[in-house]
Amino acid sequence: MDIKQILSKMSLDEKIGQMMQIPPNYFIENSTVEIAGNIYYSKLTSDQKFKVGSILGVGNSDEMEKLQRNYLSNSRLKIPLLFMADIIHGYETIFPIPLAQSCSFNDNIAFNIARISAIEAQTAGIGVTFSPMADLTRDPRWGRVMEGYGEDPYLLERFVKATVQGYQQDDILKEGNLASCIKHFAGYGAPIGGLDYNTVDMSLLEFYQNYVKGYKAGINAGAQMMMSAFNAFNGVPASINKELMVDILRDKLNFNGVTITDYNSLKESITHRVAINKKHAAELGIKAMIDIEMVSTCYADFIKELINDGIINISDINNAVFRILKLKNDLGLFENPYNYTSKLKEKEINRCEAHLQKARELAHECMVLLKNDNNTFPIKTNQKILLLGPFVNEYRTNGAWSWRGNNHKNRSLYESLKLEGLQVEYADYTEQTSTVKLDKYDLILCALGEYENESGEAKSKSDLHLNYDQTKWVKYAKDNHKKVAVILYNGRPLILTDIINADTILETWFLGSKANEAIADVLMGRVNPCGKLTMSFPLNMGQIPIYYNHFSTGRPRVNSNDPFTSYYIDCDNSALFPFGYGLSYSTFVYKNHKISNTVITEKNTINYQVDIENKSNIDGYEIVQLYIQDVVSNITRPIKELKNYKKLFIEKNTTKTVTFEISLRDLTYTNNKGQQIVEKGEFLIMVGPNSIDLHQIMIELQ
Ligand code: BGC
Repeated sequence: MDIKQILSKMSLDEKIGQMMQIPPNYFIENSTVEIAGNIYYSKLTSDQKFKVGSILGVGNSDEMEKLQRNYLSNSRLKIPLLFMADIIHGYETIFPIPLAQSCSFNDNIAFNIARISAIEAQTAGIGVTFSPMADLTRDPRWGRVMEGYGEDPYLLERFVKATVQGYQQDDILKEGNLASCIKHFAGYGAPIGGLDYNTVDMSLLEFYQNYVKGYKAGINAGAQMMMSAFNAFNGVPASINKELMVDILRDKLNFNGVTITDYNSLKESITHRVAINKKHAAELGIKAMIDIEMVSTCYADFIKELINDGIINISDINNAVFRILKLKNDLGLFENPYNYTSKLKEKEINRCEAHLQKARELAHECMVLLKNDNNTFPIKTNQKILLLGPFVNEYRTNGAWSWRGNNHKNRSLYESLKLEGLQVEYADYTEQTSTVKLDKYDLILCALGEYENESGEAKSKSDLHLNYDQTKWVKYAKDNHKKVAVILYNGRPLILTDIINADTILETWFLGSKANEAIADVLMGRVNPCGKLTMSFPLNMGQIPIYYNHFSTGRPRVNSNDPFTSYYIDCDNSALFPFGYGLSYSTFVYKNHKISNTVITEKNTINYQVDIENKSNIDGYEIVQLYIQDVVSNITRPIKELKNYKKLFIEKNTTKTVTFEISLRDLTYTNNKGQQIVEKGEFLIMVGPNSIDLHQIMIELQ
């Protein structure tokens, strides 16, 4: 399709229409789509409606076909609508939440999840997914940490890249592929106090060293779109921030795809008290090269006036519309406006057995075994087990952002364990503890955590302790000398100090459609858990935000006798469970750390080698992590940064050798202007099973 030619035929109203995105409810009463926000119905004329360029969410293939048909028959130029939606961790088959995915340290999992999500979502003609969320997340009070990949920029890069590639593959035109929209540019994961939508205030150094990495990885992987954030960046709301959206995003990061605001956020620049009114917001949005306005109607109402007043230039509108039409063309919508929508496939493919099986399989690597004293897990089949806690009969295991997933089809923990033929019973957890007799049981299994609607957008918390009196069961069972295991369901790190004396703790997050079956696989010992944490678990609320890769200070806590150091007088500095931490049913021993050379130059690389012995009778996966500290540099740098990792399968009672190649690239950093800097000098190379237990070797860059 010749886009330039279409553009030349378009009236200004038609161009403005392309720059609007509205929910399907404007066309379909009772659409089944779930919208993450209040619907602000603006008064759009019928003429305006039939010029709109894209739709936020669509319920199913039927809705899509009807809407597109109706639209095309009423539109002069017949430019097809583009349907965009939040397909975050599955469409009808729901997979582990992104935070859980990252704990696998296996980015193929993210790729595969994105693949199946794209294939299923396209049955309803969806062309763009608002995923992945590339925001770095360090504050578990923020409910959206469930939607991200944790506190480490390197891991974030790998998962964002894999997810984009999974959605788009090599060509968005092909059946089964979606275009990916990265979000939320920029810094949305760092709201002050973990309060959603709150102010973000970070230095450019912090931005370039850490926060930009995820977005950049998405751009480099070819993501077609970028969504602006709700928050202000450097004092200016992202959706009207020219410095952010043009100077940084377009010019520095070379993004040339389509930009879209977040939900209503262009208009909210008025509530931020930066734009004066809708007209001003529209002006600033255009100047920030924001191509599509989601939900609010500043563009629809004021672009024309702004052009007539000579405040904005028609060429800016033409360029924006060109980018939008190009995306539609690249998706093949002009030839195939229904975008492979298929009732038949919707029935056959969505939530089919093969996809459910995959959901179960991919969930295995996402669980993190935090504690397992006396080999409490795997459970023995002859054990009598009592289940306690609010999540024993809970089937809502999908997690937030799974609007098309049907929780009612999922199995509860009790059902899943019953199916395994285990001797399980449960007691009402709201009962008084003393009324529950523990004598006849060998194991007390507590299913604890938070409900799925306690994390996600607008789900900030000021207290991350287990609530609803859940901890009493662990205490009661321990007081009665019983073995206690805890299974956790949650969308964010929680404070686990109250239950830390449980014998076993298994973090399962929200694993999706097959959560409890996958958990049963681990409990039965058919699957050996291997995930590691990608966000630190704090000891208490006051430590938050806590993350392993913090900057150096002038008074670090090295000598505990010195009171004038950086520490809490009432609590340790360290996390309860650090980044990278996770156990296995196997026991791994690291030995024979070696380096090929302690001097590295711009030309040569060096190898770090370590042997990992599986000193147990069970095969397992281990995630070997490599961190680097730049010992001295011109600016303060993190005390350590993850630079590489390898996940390897080690058979029982065998040893494997892991080799990391270290090159100049691992020794560079980004300064506050976004430039890559290499500084000669010493670097500490650290290798181990998590961010704390590390073996160190010093090298020098000459
Ligand atoms: C969220 C976005 C989402 C959009 C559309 C907003 O509230 O912040 O992440 O893509 O809604 O549903």
